[in-house]
Amino acid sequence: MKLPSAKTVIEPFRIKSVEPMPILEAPKRKQLIKDASYNLFLLPASAVTFDLLTDSGTSAMSARQWGAMMVGDESYAGSSSYLKFEKTVQDLTGLEHVIPTHQGRSAEALLMTAMIKPGETVIGNTHFDTTRANIENAGAKALDLPSPSIALGIDDDFKGNIDLTKLQEHLKNETNKVRAIIITITNNSVGGQPVSMENIRNANELAKSYNIPLFLDCARFAENAYFIKIRENGYSDRSIPSICKEMFSYCDGAIMSAKKDAFANIGGFLAINNLEIASQIRSLMVLTEGFPTYGGLAGRDMEALAVGLKEIQEEDYLSYRIRSVEYFGKGIEAAGLKVVTPIGGHAVYIDAGKTLPHIPSSQFPGQSLSVALYEHIGIRSVEVGSVMLGHRDPETGKEHPAPQELVRLAMPRRVYTQSHVDYMVEMIHYLAPHLAELRGFEFSYQARFLRHFTAKFKKLT
Ligand code: F0G
Repeated sequence: MKLPSAKTVIEPFRIKSVEPMPILEAPKRKQLIKDASYNLFLLPASAVTFDLLTDSGTSAMSARQWGAMMVGDESYAGSSSYLKFEKTVQDLTGLEHVIPTHQGRSAEALLMTAMIKPGETVIGNTHFDTTRANIENAGAKALDLPSPSIALGIDDDFKGNIDLTKLQEHLKNETNKVRAIIITITNNSVGGQPVSMENIRNANELAKSYNIPLFLDCARFAENAYFIKIRENGYSDRSIPSICKEMFSYCDGAIMSAKKDAFANIGGFLAINNLEIASQIRSLMVLTEGFPTYGGLAGRDMEALAVGLKEIQEEDYLSYRIRSVEYFGKGIEAAGLKVVTPIGGHAVYIDAGKTLPHIPSSQFPGQSLSVALYEHIGIRSVEVGSVMLGHRDPETGKEHPAPQELVRLAMPRRVYTQSHVDYMVEMIHYLAPHLAELRGFEFSYQARFLRHFTAKFKKLT
């Protein structure tokens, strides 16, 4: 007799250490979210049962990581923890100069300050918002060239790709302006969608022919590698480390928010082959991050990162990860909500515009759905629609909507069990028939920049 393998169907870990999860009743939650002016960012975490606001810095670390932290070397310069971290990143990426930073956006800020001149352009598949802000802050233009399948609204195995035809056009027409290309793996801003190896390889060839460096924003590199393994021809027999090696072999540098695919609660890095830029960054960073062998991190953080960067490449973990996010998404879809497909690596994106067609974008359907998920189920999600990405014309007061009204449910790594997911899906089934009763929102306060963090809302009746 041969029973099916446990691989890919169960969590490939058991629990050694736990923390209590706040479980509140709905009337209490309704009061708390009202007190927070209907802004989920303003809720205390102790009021949230399922915190799906982000997968960043929210992972459960392993016993191996916690053990490694105990041997952290806190020397100011040249600590053994740095040397271990440096070797791990070099082995992973094949890149020579490794600079630790306290998170992803500091790596971005250092790179853009050292590399870019005002008036230049940095092209990406879709820049994450902090990357875009750092490019613009350096006086340059951040240009997104996402895959044409996004605009067409069609399913595609590698919806995260960069549009190579448009990339070629831009490189041809603006050869002297384009300073760098950044490919974000997976492409967070379009739903955690993967980028194919072929796309990275071809982008690199194009970049080389114009002598322009290619960078990877590799916050979720291992999730991307797993998608390549299961979806791209020729990769099914390859190991995850060898796929990662090949992905990085096509780049000249990488920036990483290690709060994602390194299972760490804080950390990041910049790795680059260009010695001149590395040297410039190493002198620049002393002003804000610290000495180049710790870059704003404790020695123990670098120990945890070195272990996490290897652990994340374990195939049993990755198959559980991608499968469990898909399972969650399919459950929500079965309840009748409209979900962005195919489901991405780190999050399920609900299309609130299509799920709540009775609420116009000017009344923020994503905000309405995310508040309802909190009030009724205790889920904290994040609106990625007109609240976050739209803006108000300062002269006319008119609201300009975002292209889509999405709600992101990001899954922290190794934190919630299948029973948690089943419970959330079951509750969404109960909620679904009542969605037409939800009402829209309007701003009662909004800041000029990044308004979603601090906005206050009024519920419309
Ligand atoms: N690049 C990508 C692709 C990201 O997703 C993030 C952060 C960053 C860079 C910035 O890194 O937060 O360490 O400074 N994304 C988080 C999210 C915040 O919720 O998606 P950071």
